[in-house]
Amino acid sequence: MKKTILITGCSSGIGYCTAHGLQARGYRVFATARRQESVEMLLAEGLESFQLDLNDSSSIRRAVEETLNRSNGQLYALFNNGGYGLPGATEDLSREALRAQFETNFFGWLELTNLILPVMRAQGYGRIVQNSSILGFAAMPFRGAYNASKFAIEGWSDTLRLELRGSGIFVSLIEPGPISTKFRANAMKAFERDIDIENSIHREKYTVVRDRLNKLGPTVPFTLPPGAVLEKVVQALESNPPKARYYVTFPTHMFGFLKRILPVSILDRLLAQAGHKHQ
Ligand SMILES: NC(=O)c1ccc[n+]([C@@H]2O[C@H](COP(=O)([O-])OP(=O)(O)OC[C@H]3O[C@@H](n4cnc5c(N)ncnc54)[C@H](OP(=O)(O)O)[C@@H]3O)[C@@H](O)[C@H]2O)c1
Repeated sequence: MKKTILITGCSSGIGYCTAHGLQARGYRVFATARRQESVEMLLAEGLESFQLDLNDSSSIRRAVEETLNRSNGQLYALFNNGGYGLPGATEDLSREALRAQFETNFFGWLELTNLILPVMRAQGYGRIVQNSSILGFAAMPFRGAYNASKFAIEGWSDTLRLELRGSGIFVSLIEPGPISTKFRANAMKAFERDIDIENSIHREKYTVVRDRLNKLGPTVPFTLPPGAVLEKVVQALESNPPKARYYVTFPTHMFGFLKRILPVSILDRLLAQAGHKHQ
């Protein structure tokens, strides 16, 4: 029998690439997307697809029901992936803006995972793969909302891994560095929607942020295509046991290492430089 996997956020980027890549590898993929037009696109490309909006509890519940109806009540893996980045200084974050960031990047993932876990517990096996980020363990200026949401994913995943010890269910974090996707274009939309740019003390720096977000093509050295993430997802699904963390890209390996060995004062200098250079 084919291994089954439910993936969120398959309209573009990492989710899209992983859905196609795993289907080509022989998995039965439930490639979900927030918007109906994305579902139509994925169906036309030969994927199984239906709607799942992480901001909407009833959409999450419907998608889980649909998945289990199609897969005889079983599911091998869940790839939590759908999300976005809200750029901007933390002092410009309203409660609503941060709430929206967490609704998608954290609460939606948690709710979906908690609906899937009883299924995995009953079958005695399963894989939860979490698409975190280099920004899930290394903070950079002007990325506070996203940093906070990914740090939350890391804390939750580390806890869940401990709680699932001996259950046959494994939790792995994927830590991508810069990957060429629609992430920046979508971050630009969030920035303009949720940050009061003109009235900010940072408005001049925000012109640099805008320029970076509007640039086509990689703005950061060592950017990789989404296929680099797919490779690590495959390892998280097929290794026995899988690792707790899979780094992707050179900057992730570098900052992962530096975070373990450097004093905070030196690490801060490097992270501030990296963050401001790529504001
Ligand atoms: N690109 C990078 O450099 C990078 C690095 C580290 C981690 N990541 C993580 O990788 C994941 C995928 O991002 P990406 O780089 O592939 O960017 P992307 O091309 O912008 O894809 C993001 C996906 O998430 C979906 N999404 C957004 N809000 C959603 C919601 N409420 N419910 C369900 N899906 C939703 C988007 O759907 P719509 O098209 O409908 O908006 C899209 O399919 C994210 O969790 C991101 O944090 C990316």
